[in-house]
Amino acid sequence: MENIRHIAIIMDGNGRWAKKQNKPRIYGHKEGMSRVKEIVQYSRNLGLDVLSLFAFSSENWFRPKSEVSFLMALLEQYLKSEVAELKENGVKLNFIGNIKKLPPNVCKIIEQSLRTTEDCSDMLLNIALSYGGREELLSAVKSIAYDCTTGKISPEDINDTLFSNYLYTKSIPDPDLLIRTSGEMRISNFMLWQIAYTELYITDTLWPDFNSSEFAKAIDNYNSRERRFGKISEQINGEQ
Ligand code: IPE
Ligand code: IPE
Ligand code: MG
Repeated sequence: MENIRHIAIIMDGNGRWAKKQNKPRIYGHKEGMSRVKEIVQYSRNLGLDVLSLFAFSSENWFRPKSEVSFLMALLEQYLKSEVAELKENGVKLNFIGNIKKLPPNVCKIIEQSLRTTEDCSDMLLNIALSYGGREELLSAVKSIAYDCTTGKISPEDINDTLFSNYLYTKSIPDPDLLIRTSGEMRISNFMLWQIAYTELYITDTLWPDFNSSEFAKAIDNYNSRERRFGKISEQINGEQ
């Protein structure tokens, strides 16, 4: 696809989906994992360059211990069972966030899956884990300040491009479309810098119900929009 390279998704609503059926929250996370597989496959077939998935936020650490452990186990299971197929499909993995905070067994499988898929180039699957947008910005600012004190860069060098290269997402284009499931009208600390001009799509559909046809609807909706980037319609049409 030409006009859409990168889709980012805030996968929300697993707990509510389970609650609706009088099931424990973890049941929703399990079903949500099936949608992850489905949406990754669909994105790959679509020819998307990058799919970013917000899987676990820096704030999600404050959830009940049992839920956090379940999510970590699920993540480990996903990577173990999917990495061979991802490689076969040309999908390269990337992780953004404070990865060091994850349990050692998860860190290990992350490193392995990065190595296994490092030569893949058909799509980048970018998973945000223990990720917080403010944390990412602060870590960029710290590194930039440090590089200024050592003389590697000077304050005058700091511009959009340089700043972007200090973020976890360096060399990944900004998302064209950000989808949030389950209806919450908020960003919840996701990609604060990167979504400056991203199109937003918020659906009431809960993540475990967000199948390929729901995804296609979101993309259709995106395709009907005009991205003006501050300009006027006539300028945009003239450029085409
Ligand atoms: C998204 O679903 C999964 C994670 C944040 C890890 P939630 O677990 O937030 O589900 P709700 O929002 O409570 O329904
Ligand atoms: C955002 O969902 C984080 C992920 C989807 C991983 P949350 O459920 O944590 O967000 P809030 O608490 O509703 O803002
Ligand atoms: Mg939620």
